[in-house]
Amino acid sequence: MIYPTAGRLTAIGEYYFSKKTAEIRRMTENGHDVINLGIGSPDLSPGREVIAAAARSLRDAGSHAYAPYRSMPWLRKAVAGWYSRAYGVVLDPEKQVLPLLGSKEAILYVSMAYLNPGDLVLVPDPGYPAYTSAARLAGASVRYYDLTEKNGWLPDFKALEKADLRRCRLMWVNYPHMPTGTPASAGLFKELVAFGRRKKILICSDNPYGLILNNGRPLSILGADPRAETSLELNSLSKSFNMAGWRVGMLLGAEETVNAVLKVKSNVDSGMFIPVQAGAAKALSAPEEWHRRRNAVYAKRRDLVRMIFSELGFSWSAGQCGLFVWAKAPDSVPSVEKFLDRLLTEAGIFITPGSVFGRNGLRYAHASLCADEMRLKEALSRARSLAGARRRPK
Ligand SMILES: Cc1ncc(COP(=O)(O)O)c(C=O)c1O
Repeated sequence: MIYPTAGRLTAIGEYYFSKKTAEIRRMTENGHDVINLGIGSPDLSPGREVIAAAARSLRDAGSHAYAPYRSMPWLRKAVAGWYSRAYGVVLDPEKQVLPLLGSKEAILYVSMAYLNPGDLVLVPDPGYPAYTSAARLAGASVRYYDLTEKNGWLPDFKALEKADLRRCRLMWVNYPHMPTGTPASAGLFKELVAFGRRKKILICSDNPYGLILNNGRPLSILGADPRAETSLELNSLSKSFNMAGWRVGMLLGAEETVNAVLKVKSNVDSGMFIPVQAGAAKALSAPEEWHRRRNAVYAKRRDLVRMIFSELGFSWSAGQCGLFVWAKAPDSVPSVEKFLDRLLTEAGIFITPGSVFGRNGLRYAHASLCADEMRLKEALSRARSLAGARRRPK
């Protein structure tokens, strides 16, 4: 018997990377050597002391029961300590910090906590696809706001002021921005908070890339909204601490926001495994030197990824931060998606088309820094051969 699925599934598709990863696995099984520059899943390891802390906790008889829904008090304290050192933001670990199982999951929890069917959500185009899916799963509608190269990939507040946002409850913002690598600025966060306050829209700042190849001091929207009256922030250990598979994220905000999201969370999951929390708490105490070393590795990789793009005729701008390079296709490439499909089949290099992130990404491509230098040099050599073959007269 075939059971009909719920109507809400018609509003979303299978996640792009879920489908693409399956395709790459099939290619690999058939003997292709694919260099995957698609997903931002750090291949570097967390610190040795992080693994040791988790292992110690694993041997502790008290670690195997359900963990508290709000997580262990020492993890919340570690999060608050990290926010104060890294972002200069003071949080009450008892009331303003809620560890969550990854920030992707957190996007759905926030959407379930704040959206009613028929509400409107402002989502960046281009932007992380999960904002749209979560809004739709919660029965809300999405209004995309344009980020364009001309506007420095920043919200156009004049256009937003003119829009009818009476039904709008949430606005997702993400600086440093994925996919474009646009850094945050204190001025931008101030403007966003003022906009949210005026329009009575909760500004949800998704901030997982703040520590990666960021030349300035990492910034949090809570710096512009110290009492978190108009905003909340999501953060994650996935990228900054090489712990994507551990699923450790967090929500930072007003006590009321924490309690609202906890209502959803405590009805959906049963807490974070205590050894994972022990590792996470240890990771959060990493000295600046640890982050500098990680960024030095990414900086070298970024040079190579830029060279790959240049070889393919794509151009990129300096000043991007985060775990990716965002590059523009030359006019001679009519379809970026088709071009990148051929790059995968002919050269075994997987780079994500910018269209995955929205209409404004159509002419762009997005490559991650999560492959080691040897693989990137191999990708560069394949890109060179491909470009050479295309230049040769037929
Ligand atoms: C902008 C953005 N937000 C959130 C996430 C989710 O990260 P995680 O769920 O691993 O914390 C990602 C992952 O790629 C991302 O790019």
